[in-house]
Amino acid sequence: MKQYQWPNGGMQTTRLIYGCMKIGGSWDETPITDDVRRKAFAALDAAVDAGITIFDHADIYCRGKSETVFGEYLREHPGLRDRIVLQSKCGIRFPQEPSDAYPYGAPVRYDYSCDHILWSVDGILSRLGVDTLDILLLHRPDSLVEPEEVARAFDRLKSEGKVGAFGVSNHSAAQMALLDSVIDDPLIANQMQISLMHPDMLVYGTAVNQRRPEHVMRPADSLEYCRQHGVQLQAWSPLAKGYLTGREFPENWSDDQKSRATKVSRLVERMASDHGVSREAIVLGWILRHPAPVLPVIGTTDKDRIAAAVAADTVQLSREEWYLLVEVARGMSMP
Ligand SMILES: NC(=O)c1ccc[n+]([C@@H]2O[C@H](COP(=O)([O-])OP(=O)(O)OC[C@H]3O[C@@H](n4cnc5c(N)ncnc54)[C@H](OP(=O)(O)O)[C@@H]3O)[C@@H](O)[C@H]2O)c1
Repeated sequence: MKQYQWPNGGMQTTRLIYGCMKIGGSWDETPITDDVRRKAFAALDAAVDAGITIFDHADIYCRGKSETVFGEYLREHPGLRDRIVLQSKCGIRFPQEPSDAYPYGAPVRYDYSCDHILWSVDGILSRLGVDTLDILLLHRPDSLVEPEEVARAFDRLKSEGKVGAFGVSNHSAAQMALLDSVIDDPLIANQMQISLMHPDMLVYGTAVNQRRPEHVMRPADSLEYCRQHGVQLQAWSPLAKGYLTGREFPENWSDDQKSRATKVSRLVERMASDHGVSREAIVLGWILRHPAPVLPVIGTTDKDRIAAAVAADTVQLSREEWYLLVEVARGMSMP
């Protein structure tokens, strides 16, 4: 696969990132089974053999089991650690039952206190079995964030050699600017949900100055901030969880959702045939065509689908194809 130089932080990686969210099996406390381990190793074999050189984790994925099984894979493949970039995230905390520490119990919450960030990174390093994490992302914005606490944690982690560089996920421009105003090294990445079923992040700019309600999109400004400040944009759920490439729609989808997704799927299929590539390559090619550029974080654990996704590296969609996909995905033409 082609190598790509990030604007900040000195990283050189493939344009596809392998997302490890599902490789730990279940999201409960049950231990990793042999079957889960076998499937995880097969998925990682497929990603490594395809040439992918960057892997995305989070402390919460499968309650830490995704990192643990990845750590086992690294131990079985000596030398691999030095050839890949390891990224993980922290800050989301699971609900907790009432206890002495939490007399009322605790809901899902976000936590960027210095202590929590440091504690989380120690857990990540121990589960992965590595001394250094290349990139740490703050998983979701915390309403109670105190940027100086984040800066203190980042300083410690950097000076102790535990983390190489820092970024965020699901953050707006203003939230990134606030953090950038107090941390020493600039943020190097922001991971957002982007796909043909969730295209607003790449398209909202076309709605600026529009009054017709159908054109108005969720206001966002992360894209421009990232481009201006060299923050590497990454796309999570870039395959739209398979719903544009053959996966059956959920029963609770509205007729409108099903009809829209069916139209996009048909167009994707036609373009795939015209380009002589897989449908996954078109769905991801739509993201890769953006000049920001944006790196898709693919989460399929199926080896054939991983191979199909990797073909996106060779696709170059035309401007006309790109906008046609947007038009069909949004169910309306551009203003
Ligand atoms: N930062 C964040 O807030 C955030 C949130 C969510 C995810 N992420 C990251 O993004 C990565 C990707 O996310 P994702 O897994 O939600 O998205 P995805 O890559 O869009 O979709 C992968 C999922 O769709 C299924 N799938 C794909 N094609 C299919 C088909 N034709 N038929 C049936 N199933 C199909 C896969 O199942 P198979 O495994 O069977 O192929 C897998 O469960 C994660 O691993 C994680 O690293 C980040």
